[in-house]
Amino acid sequence: MLENNDQEQNILKFPQSFLWGVSTSAYQIEGGITNDWSQWEMSAKRLAKLRKKNFDYRDFVAGQACDSYNRYEEDAEMVKDLHCGAYRLGLEWSRIEPRKGEFNLEAIEHYRQVLMNLREKNIKIVLTIWHWTNPLWLVAEGGWSNKKVISYYSRYAEFVVAQLGDLVDFWVTINEPSVFVSQSYLIGKFPPNKINFFSAGKAFFNLVAAHQKAYGIIHRHNSRAKVGFTNLVNDFDPARAWFFPEIFLAWLLKFFGNNLFLRLVRGQLDYIGIDYYFHFRIVWYPPFVRNLNKEVTDSGWEIYPRGIYNILQDLRRFKKPIYIMENGIADAADAKRGKFIIDHLRYVHRAIEEGEDIRGYFYWSLLDNFEWAEGYAMKFGLYSVDRQTFQRAPRPSAATYAEICRTNQIRIEK
Ligand code: FCB
Repeated sequence: MLENNDQEQNILKFPQSFLWGVSTSAYQIEGGITNDWSQWEMSAKRLAKLRKKNFDYRDFVAGQACDSYNRYEEDAEMVKDLHCGAYRLGLEWSRIEPRKGEFNLEAIEHYRQVLMNLREKNIKIVLTIWHWTNPLWLVAEGGWSNKKVISYYSRYAEFVVAQLGDLVDFWVTINEPSVFVSQSYLIGKFPPNKINFFSAGKAFFNLVAAHQKAYGIIHRHNSRAKVGFTNLVNDFDPARAWFFPEIFLAWLLKFFGNNLFLRLVRGQLDYIGIDYYFHFRIVWYPPFVRNLNKEVTDSGWEIYPRGIYNILQDLRRFKKPIYIMENGIADAADAKRGKFIIDHLRYVHRAIEEGEDIRGYFYWSLLDNFEWAEGYAMKFGLYSVDRQTFQRAPRPSAATYAEICRTNQIRIEK
């Protein structure tokens, strides 16, 4: 039970040790990376597609991103200014192992500096080992659908843990495996853009094995390490609560999308990391989703704060501490972001009050960055980034979030 909930003022306090943070990933912010994404972005086929739609290709190429490889100190200052106790950031495999089996000591030394700088500022570190992007040598060997990836990933993870393990508070082995598999192998929107059901299955089970191995490796180095992965969890509802085909389809999507990976690795998890963005009303006919979309983000995603509560309730049975590792909104005008955060936190608070073990919340993202296949148009940042000068500027919602993190509470309007 939480203390001091001041009903009069409608102040909702979070547990004392609740961890407030912000999230990013390496490829989306660092800049200057050569990997499977950078290769795909500049491929003749993609460029032709963009030209056909009259798009400027530079808006869809990560390029120098936010230049965070050079500006990491500034980023850490921003995390501090937000009063966040933690920062989730990622490593880029292609920098650390640019050629098969050859580790780049300069790159790892750079990451040590980045992490040490955060530690000096008293910011806890959540480190993502793999967030979708791959070195070219790995892709040449078949990428994630080749079984060999399990040993390659393990070797990379082992190196990273040996080099950086003393600085890390939480490990994220793999970001959103189900999204990677579906976007890369079922929908074909992410590289390697191979629509192939069998490759999807192989990649999925290789990711499961990679996580399981990494869990053992990290714990061998540090038995007290906290290891998990981030799971994109969607709130799936049948459009008609009484109509069996829609109930079944919603259940199926939940089973494969939200829970299968989790079930398979539940023995190798110190916490459950979730990313929440979507609510889907499921219908039995194509395109199988019919959202009411009364209120949407710039990316057209329905805003549905209650969904996070439904998800949290569903995860209760796993009996593990939960960290919300991503939740955020594309909102260039910053007209909805502050309210979006508070509305979601209100439901997180309700779940905690009902006894759920939820230990942290990370907003996606610290700053505007490269939103994968959508390029730079979608602005998720608490800080905006000038695309020419890389200058960062806090949006008004940054002050809202900073106040929440500083006071460990939200204020609800009557
Ligand atoms: C998540 C990804 C993250 C970012 C947000 C908007 O699915 O993990 O990199 O793109 O969506």
